[in-house]
Amino acid sequence: MSKIVIRSIDEWRRFRAALTGSLGFVPTLGGLHEGHAALIQRAAAENDLAVVSLFLNPTQFDDPGDLASYPASLEDDLAYAEAQGASAVLAPDREAIYADGFRFQVEESPLSRELCGAHRPGHFSGVLTVVLKLLNLVKPDRAYFGEKDYQQLELIRGMAEAFFIDSQIVACPTVRDADGLALSSRNARLDAAGRALAPRLREALACPGSDGQVAEALSRLGFDVDYVATRFGRRLAAASIGNGQGRVRLIDNIPLAQICAASDANGDNPS
Ligand code: PAF
Repeated sequence: MSKIVIRSIDEWRRFRAALTGSLGFVPTLGGLHEGHAALIQRAAAENDLAVVSLFLNPTQFDDPGDLASYPASLEDDLAYAEAQGASAVLAPDREAIYADGFRFQVEESPLSRELCGAHRPGHFSGVLTVVLKLLNLVKPDRAYFGEKDYQQLELIRGMAEAFFIDSQIVACPTVRDADGLALSSRNARLDAAGRALAPRLREALACPGSDGQVAEALSRLGFDVDYVATRFGRRLAAASIGNGQGRVRLIDNIPLAQICAASDANGDNPS
């Protein structure tokens, strides 16, 4: 169990006001895994204090089934956050964060309507709104985000700049399993066949050829492809895998330089 667990906004404000020293912040939806561990450990190493938020933000889920099946357990997450070096955990309830009933929302365009935004209407409004609320509450010196959600990272960077947020937004590399699958809380929902297929997403991204060819290759493998696209000096993709009860949506991205490396080393071809 974490040393300090704060559920109410007033209590958090009192706690924050009494803090001295630098604060590193890792916002999460819960369902913590080794990817979060890397963020928390870095926040703890680079600051006097690391704070984690556990908040399963309903406004960023366009699919109610996805929200209902999100694998987060408060007790497990509290213990895990502490073990990684978090000094305090902010775990507010939905009413506390959305006392306004989600009346006030952060809207961005055009990036929030593209890529993942084109397939998940309203998703990035929910993300940006909750991140702005959390940054205003926590007032961190540094806030840590994973590069796996690269579009999200770009939008948060842009919002922080546009709204003169003082916190530094720190990008952290994607953590992967040994077979290359990017760690995600949603991986827990893959069945055995889906788990065996999932690393092929990262492999396909690294293949030379056009984004369209990579998308076709993924479809042939059994992925339901939302998009494969080149942006931000990266190749990004979102694709789903069936698990018998529904679909598990995976996202990933790699720097373009890694595509050339794969091409030179292996002569890989997506077809
Ligand atoms: O990346 C996530 O886990 C979430 O989108 C975030 C940034 C915690 C906002 O709810």
